[in-house]
Amino acid sequence: MKVAVLYGGVSAEREVSLSSGKGIIEALQKRGHEVVGIDFNPAHLDEIMKLDVDMVYIGLHGRFGEDGKVQALLDMLNIPYVGSGVQGSALAMDKAKAKLFFARDGARVAQQQVLFKHSYDSKQTEITLPFPIVVKPNQEGSTIGITFAHNQDELRDGIDQAFELDETVLLEEFINGKEVTVAVMGNRGKEKALPVVEIVPKNKYYDYEAKYGAGMSEHIVPARLSNEQTAYVQKYAVLAHQALGCDIYSRVDFLVPEDGSDPVILEVNTLPGMTPTSLYPDAAREIGLSYDEMIEELVKLSLN
Ligand code: DAL
Ligand code: MG
Repeated sequence: MKVAVLYGGVSAEREVSLSSGKGIIEALQKRGHEVVGIDFNPAHLDEIMKLDVDMVYIGLHGRFGEDGKVQALLDMLNIPYVGSGVQGSALAMDKAKAKLFFARDGARVAQQQVLFKHSYDSKQTEITLPFPIVVKPNQEGSTIGITFAHNQDELRDGIDQAFELDETVLLEEFINGKEVTVAVMGNRGKEKALPVVEIVPKNKYYDYEAKYGAGMSEHIVPARLSNEQTAYVQKYAVLAHQALGCDIYSRVDFLVPEDGSDPVILEVNTLPGMTPTSLYPDAAREIGLSYDEMIEELVKLSLN
């Protein structure tokens, strides 16, 4: 098969995508496909059109890649691609809106407050959440721009910093617990949750350094959870994936509170990292799929 791999791109997660892209390209080559790697820039679209490929593997993360925009362009060009379509991608990228869908299905979500750049006033806007507060740019990935505020000064600085990356800022209650993630794989209606991966960062939080520095976090598969907790996160991972209209694969992140209360769903990642330190490949390995086989499987599922 002739496959174009889009990687790199223009988002804040470009470096992550360069690494994911390298892995995906090598895997597809090893599986015998003809591969064209494209460091993606919207200006390269005519190049993709001319290539006459059977499939596009989107190895991008973040804006103009994970948010549905590239998917829309490929749809218009009638070129098939691996993974979620426009709507699923766009909804998953918007953490605050996606949580409305998760809650509708009965999943526990963190309490939140959403701030908009056009109406936020650091002196006037009343913040209703108690400290500590997690401050997130609403549509970023890889924990870029996320801060933890313990007081008013940290909150103001964190909000300002997040507004530099996004017009919308999501404030969430801080939940003390372990981070776990669930890889979802399969065609519409036949999605399966893979074994749960537990993340033990060497840093205090699973931040950018912990995510991509070799040896900066340990992944435990299957996660050390009770049977009930495992069933909970696997069930809501699939429901969240379906509720947003995602397709083929995604990775759904949760926090499991230390106090033993229900796990909290954080977000769905429609183009999860495929780097050497990434989580999705670890979950696939647990069901017997090597990295190369996993990439091949995702391509195959996308042909249906
Ligand atoms: N946003 C990064 C790539 C992830 O979720 O793995
Ligand atoms: Mg994410």
